[in-house]
Amino acid sequence: MTHRNEWMPEELHDYTIAIGPPLDDVARDLIAETGERFPGPAQIQIPPEQSGFLTLVTQLVGARSALEVGTFTGFSSLAIARGLPADGRLLCLDVNEEWTSVAQRYWERAGVADRIDLRIGPALDSLRALPAEPFLDLVFLDADKENYLAYWEELVPRVRPGGVLLVDNVFFHLSVLEEAPTRPGGAAVKAFNRRVRDDPRVTHAVLPLGDGVTMARRVSSE
Ligand SMILES: C[S@@+](CC[C@H](N)C(=O)[O-])C[C@H]1O[C@@H](n2cnc3c(N)ncnc32)[C@H](O)[C@@H]1O
Repeated sequence: MTHRNEWMPEELHDYTIAIGPPLDDVARDLIAETGERFPGPAQIQIPPEQSGFLTLVTQLVGARSALEVGTFTGFSSLAIARGLPADGRLLCLDVNEEWTSVAQRYWERAGVADRIDLRIGPALDSLRALPAEPFLDLVFLDADKENYLAYWEELVPRVRPGGVLLVDNVFFHLSVLEEAPTRPGGAAVKAFNRRVRDDPRVTHAVLPLGDGVTMARRVSSE
């Protein structure tokens, strides 16, 4: 079972998945187990059409050093890890041990566990403990929305010029269309989106993929 966004007709969503890259058994089983064991939270998993996109961007960037904020049961990290070369590294940040223990099993099964490090704890603390210089080729941000701005300010200086940041849920279930969003986190996502638009350190595009994905490229080392 997969989820789709409010604004996308079901038929078109099904078609998008049908003509996109097929999911293998590992990805299918991961989606199924997440839906069965965590039926409510399963909605926070990236949709299947975003998985192929993450792998493709990882490959296009030629990423060797990647970081994910918000891992859950591992679907997005699996997609990124599969785009890395065998000696590439993905650092995953999350607070939840139960959810990420599922991720670890699927990384093993997919043969990418040796590319991934998992750090459990508040992501802001983990980010601040990382080297301050630009060493990241690719970032995927998909965690608590209230901290998106703070994550951005920690992440951008650590991305090398030419490196890419992908940010999920920039439509945040359409709450960004409300002047004063009632959904918790909606106002934070709106403020975040304005910051990215006005940030001279990146060029960016907003993609109507999934719940909205911002793709930004670091242009300077300032
Ligand atoms: C939207 S889910 C990530 C979904 C994941 N990318 C996927 O495709 O399956 C958000 C994740 O952020 C984690 N999270 C929430 N607050 C956090 C924090 N302060 N620090 C680190 N992780 C956090 C949650 O535990 C959850 O796993």
